Amino acid sequence: MFPAAGLGTRFLPATKAQPKEMLPLVDKPIIQYGVEEAVASGANNIILVTGRGKNAIEDHFDVSVELETFLEARGKRDQLFEVRKISSMMNLSYVRQGEALGLGHAVLVTRDLVGDEPFAVILADDVIDADPPATKQLIEVFERLKGPVLAVERVPREDISSYGVVAFEPNTRLGEGIYQVRDLVEKPPKEEAPSDLAIIGRYVLTPDIFPCLAKTKSDRTGEIQLTNGLRELLKSRPIYACEVKGVRHDTGNKLGFLKAVVYFALRRPDLAGKFAEYLTSLDLTAAAKR
Ligand code: UTP
Repeated sequence: MFPAAGLGTRFLPATKAQPKEMLPLVDKPIIQYGVEEAVASGANNIILVTGRGKNAIEDHFDVSVELETFLEARGKRDQLFEVRKISSMMNLSYVRQGEALGLGHAVLVTRDLVGDEPFAVILADDVIDADPPATKQLIEVFERLKGPVLAVERVPREDISSYGVVAFEPNTRLGEGIYQVRDLVEKPPKEEAPSDLAIIGRYVLTPDIFPCLAKTKSDRTGEIQLTNGLRELLKSRPIYACEVKGVRHDTGNKLGFLKAVVYFALRRPDLAGKFAEYLTSLDLTAAAKR
C-alpha cells in the first residue's frame, strides 16, 4: 500500500499542481522506485491512496495506447519496452483519501481493500537502494517473528524530532539490528526522544491495525498518526523494529531530493562518466560558502 495523498508542502511550488511522487530521480518518478521495490519483494497487488491533484500518478501506471503506437511505428523498441513495463508490472487499485487527515487515516481508508491479510506500507518519498529490497528485508523478519515490523534507522539527535521514534527492549535473540518495540512516540522534542531509532517509510502490518486506527484520535495538528495507531496495537501484541540495510534518501525534502538525483545519476552507466566529470569540474569550495 502506498499512501500518496499528502500535500507535499515542503516541495512547493513544484507540488502545487503535480504530486511530489511524480518528481523524477533522473528519468523515473519517485513512486516508480517504490512500486518496483514492492514487486521485487513479492507483492503483485498494489493499492495507491491518492487525493486531489494526484491524477498524474494514475496516468503514469495506465496503459498509454497513443504513446505505445507512436513508439512502435518509429521502431523505438527500448523505449516501448520501458513504457510497457510500467503498466504491466502488477495489479493496481486506487483509493481516494477525501481529505489529507494524516498517514494513519490514509492507511485506514484501505481497510476494505486489504481485507484480512498482512500487508506492507511503503512511503514512496523514502527511496531505499538495498539488496535484498527494503520491503523484502521486513517481510523476512515478519515471517520469522509473526508480528508487525517497522523499518528503523539510527538518525542524529538533532534530526530525531522529524520522526516517529521507538523505545526498545534489548533482546539479542531476535537477531542483529532487530528489536522488540516497548513504546513509540511521534516527533518527540530531541531531549525526550527515547532512542535514536527513527521509523522510516516501510512497515509490514497485520489487519488488527485497522480497529486501532479507527480508535486513534487526531493529534494537535489535526492528523491521525500511524505511530499512535501502532501504540494502541502494542497493547495487544508484540511489534518489532528492523534496521534496514541499504541507502535511504528522504526525497520529500529539497536537500534529500537533490542528493538522491546525484546518487542515482552516478549509478547509471549511460550518465555516470560524463556526470562525474561535470561534478568534479565544479568549484564546490566557493558554493559551500554561499
Ligand atoms: P508527509 O509527512 O511527508 O507529508 O507524509 P506530506 O503532506 O506528503 O508532505 P509535506 O510534509 O507537506 O511536505 C508521509 C506520507 O504519508 C502520506 C504522504 O503522501 C507521504 O507518502 N500521507 C500523509 C497521506 O497519504 N495522507 C495524509 O493525510 C498525510
